[in-house]
Amino acid sequence: MNLKNIAIIMDGNGRWAKKNNLQIKEGHARGVSALKEIVKESVNQNIESLTVYAFSTENWKRPKSEVKAINNLIVNSINNELDELIEQNVKVRFFGDYSNFGKKTYEKIKFAEEKSFSNKPKLRLNIALGYGGKMDIINIAREVSRLKIKASDINDHTINELSQVPEPSIDLLIRTGGDTRISNFLLYQIAYSEIHFVRKLWPDYSKKDFKRNINKYFNSERRFGERT
Ligand code: IPE
Ligand code: IPE
Ligand code: MG
Repeated sequence: MNLKNIAIIMDGNGRWAKKNNLQIKEGHARGVSALKEIVKESVNQNIESLTVYAFSTENWKRPKSEVKAINNLIVNSINNELDELIEQNVKVRFFGDYSNFGKKTYEKIKFAEEKSFSNKPKLRLNIALGYGGKMDIINIAREVSRLKIKASDINDHTINELSQVPEPSIDLLIRTGGDTRISNFLLYQIAYSEIHFVRKLWPDYSKKDFKRNINKYFNSERRFGERT
């Protein structure tokens, strides 16, 4: 069985901060540290792509101060981590509508994408920012109409081409934080994903936990609707 494409709903930063008597922004900062470790382990495990949920379309409804702290964290994380990502041959890509984070953040993101570009990356790190699965599907429908695509020309390939999501299909989706929902993350791309819900809060999620999820994936049988 293959494990090429993993997606993660990195949930639990707020609760982690509360539990440790820290500010919410500290929770998010610790979340970035957790991601750094999981990226390293993904490289170790020869995973081809890691697609993570950093900020949803619904998260714009959070307090302004929290959105601002996340915005600063994006810029600082790119400043601090980009070189090491490039050293590991990780190709970084952001997707979603993150224009509300402002011009400075937008330009920093474009800089990170250009600088880490590689024709043969060891790992593709895709970061969903201002992303919502529903919005993506609505945009696909709008594009079909705008481009006047014939009904008979619409197939799985067309949908993947028009979607903002860089990976057409996810093998394993992990959600930390204990909740058992998708929260408007990838919809079309998880049609046949194995889905693991993990109790641990995202900042506490370690390489060891990640390896456990990978092992569990290899112990499951993916039948894809067939009689095997
Ligand atoms: C996930 O952690 C990160 C974002 C949504 C930006 P949360 O901030 O949702 O953490 P909890 O769920 O409140 O603990
Ligand atoms: C999902 O977590 C979004 C991210 C992890 C970025 P939320 O905390 O926003 O989801 P809900 O509100 O619990 O559904
Ligand atoms: Mg949450």
